[in-house]
Amino acid sequence: MKETKVISFVGEKGGIGKTTINIMAASALHYYFKKSVLLIDSDNPQFSSFKKRKSDLKIFGDFLEDDHKPYKVIKAKANPNESDRYNGILTVQEIVEENDGKYDYIIIDFPGNINEDMTSGLIHVDYAFIPFSHDQLEIESSTSYYKKLMKFFILNEDTNLKKAFLFYNRYQRVKKNKYSKLTELLKQSNFNIGEDAFKYNLLETYVLDKTIYQEEFRNTLFSFNENQENDPEDFKAFINEIIKLTNNG
Ligand SMILES: Nc1ncnc2c1ncn2[C@@H]1O[C@H](COP(=O)(O)OP(=O)(O)O)[C@@H](O)[C@H]1O
Ligand SMILES: [Mg+2]
Repeated sequence: MKETKVISFVGEKGGIGKTTINIMAASALHYYFKKSVLLIDSDNPQFSSFKKRKSDLKIFGDFLEDDHKPYKVIKAKANPNESDRYNGILTVQEIVEENDGKYDYIIIDFPGNINEDMTSGLIHVDYAFIPFSHDQLEIESSTSYYKKLMKFFILNEDTNLKKAFLFYNRYQRVKKNKYSKLTELLKQSNFNIGEDAFKYNLLETYVLDKTIYQEEFRNTLFSFNENQENDPEDFKAFINEIIKLTNNG
């Protein structure tokens, strides 16, 4: 039996990098860090991770070595009342329950909105990581989402969510000063839920803004290419922080 950690790169806004980072993290954890991984695609109706696996197989399938075992990508319904066993599409809850103990990580890609369906899937997540870039709208949306997770999930004993973290996606090194100012601001700010004051958890590492992340690294069959990732701030450091945080739980 493994102690399965259910994680998700998640948020309320479209286009902030959720799907990209869920796929990149699944691939890095599985192919590079040799963890057993299951990727659940609950981004109904696009199912872009599921489709990406199909197209990756079309392009690279013939070149894979026999011992190269890709992780599983499965479609899921977020709504717990829409289980469709006949057509082979189960709900997030069913898949998580059936696979608990079988994997090191279950990673879930959700759609970019908060509705009842999504909420019923999100209660199965242990750790949520919320991406945002240096952009007013994304900062507002991500901090507001963080507060909602704190109020309705982390402080609610009926859900699994233990911790949420904000992190920079599309980080630009050339704007380092701009980022450190925002980091200071975020670290200093408090928000209240009832009588209690809370602070934002912010990851130390970040995901850089790189074209290669859009095109090559967002791949369900291979991990990132180490030769193109020599800096200490690379994707490897990011995943190392995720592993550390989810193990220290
Ligand atoms: N770190 C990054 N560097 C470069 N492009 C990125 C990065 N993260 C996301 N993108 C691009 O931004 C777009 C939206 O990302 P996506 O993962 O689909 O967002 P979401 O799932 O939140 O809607 C995609 O074209 C993706 O390739
Ligand atoms: Mg998406």
